[in-house]
Amino acid sequence: MSEYLNAWNLKEKDFPSDGSLEDKLLFCVQYAVLSPSTYNTQPWFFRVGSDYIDIYADRRYGLPVIDPDDRMLELSCGSTLYCLCIALRNFGFVPDIELLPDSDNSDLMARVGVEFNPDKAILSVGEKELFNVITKRHGSRSVFTDKNIDAVALHKLQKVVEEHDSWLHICDDDEKKQIFQMVAEADAVQASSKPFRRELAAWVHPMRKYSGDGMPHYNMGFKEVMGDFTPSVIRRFDMDGKKVGVEEMMEATPILAVIGANETLSKGRLSCGEAYMHMGLQAEVLGISLSSLGQVTEVPDLRLRLHDVIDCHGRAHLVLRMGYTKSKTYTPRRSLSQVVEFVGGRKIDVSKYNNCSGTGFFGKIGKLFLAK
Ligand SMILES: Cc1cc2nc3c(=O)[nH]c(=O)nc-3n(C[C@H](O)[C@H](O)[C@H](O)COP(=O)(O)O)c2cc1C
Repeated sequence: MSEYLNAWNLKEKDFPSDGSLEDKLLFCVQYAVLSPSTYNTQPWFFRVGSDYIDIYADRRYGLPVIDPDDRMLELSCGSTLYCLCIALRNFGFVPDIELLPDSDNSDLMARVGVEFNPDKAILSVGEKELFNVITKRHGSRSVFTDKNIDAVALHKLQKVVEEHDSWLHICDDDEKKQIFQMVAEADAVQASSKPFRRELAAWVHPMRKYSGDGMPHYNMGFKEVMGDFTPSVIRRFDMDGKKVGVEEMMEATPILAVIGANETLSKGRLSCGEAYMHMGLQAEVLGISLSSLGQVTEVPDLRLRLHDVIDCHGRAHLVLRMGYTKSKTYTPRRSLSQVVEFVGGRKIDVSKYNNCSGTGFFGKIGKLFLAK
């Protein structure tokens, strides 16, 4: 499984300055695939042309039980779009984004026109910091320390989300308690569904180590996940394999927030995905860990109740825990040759790319990172 962790071993200095335009664009795509996605499904596909990169939703990686409308799948594509554009700008490209450019092709999420113009593609100091943490960011499933997040940092996170026609609602204590009760309800509803448990079992399966996706670090067998106790252990957060109750979730979560978009449907999902990635990188810069709780917005009745509790407009997409932790777990990424094609038909030389070979830092100590 370790070779798939090499994706995190990207070095800015390895940018192929003397390479072809296609080589340069491919290098940038390596950053884009480090984006978060539901169950680490990585539901994106890139077509690299001479002056554009198309991002497709790869609906083969849909999750029909928890995400029947591909809402979170498209949100994940928005995340990879944001990450791609920061990387492009870092390496001298000016990206020109068109969301949903082809009304006859609902899989084409975005076309990113690229002009190589280092004089124009300048990252601010803050944006450079965001670029620098793309290879460090990771979601957390830990208990957070009781250290609070200060108001300035929270305000900063809200501001970056608002840049993408989205919002970040910070919950007060009463809302926090109500939402954690809803998390428990959502877990109970979902865990009682065999199709839900079956779908989850497929993505935490140890054999995922051979495909470079999913969450193989849970190292849980099929029978274990099919038991209706386990899913909420996985989806809330780790506490030595114990299921945590509402009070414990409250204690281990300094801040609970909800992220959503002003617009609904695909455009709102993509914007919210961009906001989610931007916020994830900003949080990493500030040393704050994020943990996503998808269950409340996956169960229709509970999502509507969530909207009432926080009195929001548009569409609430994800509940987020925020806090501080030292724990680091990286998830694997599929190899580039599985997620990219060149428009002209050129083949990807797999020997040149980090996540296509089994060597390197992450390759060697991958087991450590994946160990729970
Ligand atoms: C739309 C969306 C929903 C998610 N829902 C959950 C969730 O309910 N529980 C959870 O532990 N992680 C959730 N995650 C986090 C993913 O599991 C995580 O991004 C993925 O495993 C890749 O890991 P990384 O973020 O560390 O790169 C979600 C992520 C996205 C984008």
